[in-house]
Amino acid sequence: MPDQRPFYVTTPIYYISGTPHIGHAYTSIAADVLVRTARAHGPARSLTGTDEHGQKVAAAAAAAGLTPHAYVDSLAPRWRALAPAFDARFDDFIRTTDPRHARTSLALFERMRANGDVYEGVYEGWYCTHDETFWPEAKLVDGRCPNPECRRSVEWLSEKNWFFRLSAYRDRLIAHFRAKPEFLRPQARYNEMMAVLEGGLEDLSISRSSFDWGIPLPGGGVIYVWYDALINYISALGWPDDPDGLYATFWPGMHIIGKEIARFHTLIWPAMLWSAGLPEPTRVFAHGWITVEGEKMSKSLGNVIDPFALIEEFGPDPVRYFLLREAPFGSDFSISVEKLRQRYNSDLGNDLGNLLRRSLAMLQKYRDGLVPQPSEGALQERLTDLPALVNEHVMCLRFREALDEIWTVVTYLNRTIDERKPWELYKHNRANELDALLYDLCEGLRWLSLLLFPYMPAKATEMWQQLGLDGTPERLWADELVWGRLAAGTQTNPGVALFPRLEPPAP
Ligand code: MSP
Repeated sequence: MPDQRPFYVTTPIYYISGTPHIGHAYTSIAADVLVRTARAHGPARSLTGTDEHGQKVAAAAAAAGLTPHAYVDSLAPRWRALAPAFDARFDDFIRTTDPRHARTSLALFERMRANGDVYEGVYEGWYCTHDETFWPEAKLVDGRCPNPECRRSVEWLSEKNWFFRLSAYRDRLIAHFRAKPEFLRPQARYNEMMAVLEGGLEDLSISRSSFDWGIPLPGGGVIYVWYDALINYISALGWPDDPDGLYATFWPGMHIIGKEIARFHTLIWPAMLWSAGLPEPTRVFAHGWITVEGEKMSKSLGNVIDPFALIEEFGPDPVRYFLLREAPFGSDFSISVEKLRQRYNSDLGNDLGNLLRRSLAMLQKYRDGLVPQPSEGALQERLTDLPALVNEHVMCLRFREALDEIWTVVTYLNRTIDERKPWELYKHNRANELDALLYDLCEGLRWLSLLLFPYMPAKATEMWQQLGLDGTPERLWADELVWGRLAAGTQTNPGVALFPRLEPPAP
């Protein structure tokens, strides 16, 4: 597998006034699987955080009878708790109210102004506070926000603001999209953004002057919340001073986002960076939406899935597994507790959990739990290309395909047990064959725990330890995914079932 340059992945920063739900967890889990896989090859870093400025937050704070500062501080802990609840370990959590973020945002603004891309003007047009988006009259649908997920009423603004000469970057953006189709994936989002570019780009108002909850600009007004939010990806790296060398090491990185915010990340953000003389992100992946029985999750429909309730019922790892196995990462898909329960019992309980349980039980019975001499043969050959294949899938955000690939080994090992019948080998004293088979099972399980670690860190660690290995499977693949690393004589340590069967809920 090739050496990789330092790897950096981010999630969107979530609106602090929203409620954490399974959709937010989905993006954060995906970023975590990606960064854990990247870390198996070299230095890697991840970022998440909260988006805390803007008119919507100011209004919500006022409604709660709090200052905006007190309001956002009261909400930050529940967002901080979201990723750890799913065992997603981010290297940094940025809040746009952090002083470091204000410093970077103002420096970027000044750099762009010095380069002649920022000018003063009057914004006269519509604004959707829910989406924090400016909309020209012609784009409205029935006089409402044109975002099909929103369709709320919009308000008329007439404000003296700063503008970014975004229109000047259209040709460069088109050239960039053409030269690097992998810049934005999946293809459907790429096509959508190309169509936007072909329709033309207007300059963007990047400040607001009718309220003051934002990063104050010299001379008055505050930075427009989306302009401020996008900058988080480099303020967390310490640009421009870069005291810890993080920017120099990790930028440019890649962004994982939901499909509805592709325009901000792939048109506006690269242009902002270019304007300041900085490189654009390496890639943006705009994933699909989780729905509930095909419907958008919303408070008014009463169908919002509480991520913490799912953890309560299944534990974090099965939910991580389910979300990434259920559908290709670019597609919308519908979630239900019933589907989760089914996959838990079949894929995790019957396939993986049973494989571990019966392999270690047979080793216990026939060889006192001691790993035999390394075998050579079919499994070894089968596994040779697997790490590169899995890595390639994950790096291209084909999480489901990577799991499908890993599962071929689970299926193969289960089938081998059924076909070769170790109990018969034992009965007929075919000791060499039995040793080879038991070694294959244990070494195969060791590989599985390394490959599955990014998806199910706690369960993969349990597997690792039941195999009698120390520490965790968080290791460099180049060192560990080598056939025969499991030493003969290792004392295995069978434990409790990995995925105890879930009984159907009482009717
Ligand atoms: N604050 C902005 C992002 C600024 S990034 C510089 C924002 N916040 S948000 O709270 O609305 O979060 C949106 C993101 O949450 C989506 O882009 C996606 O990553 C995730 N999801 C929220 N709901 C989702 C689903 N129902 N399904 C899948 N992911 C969704 O937009």
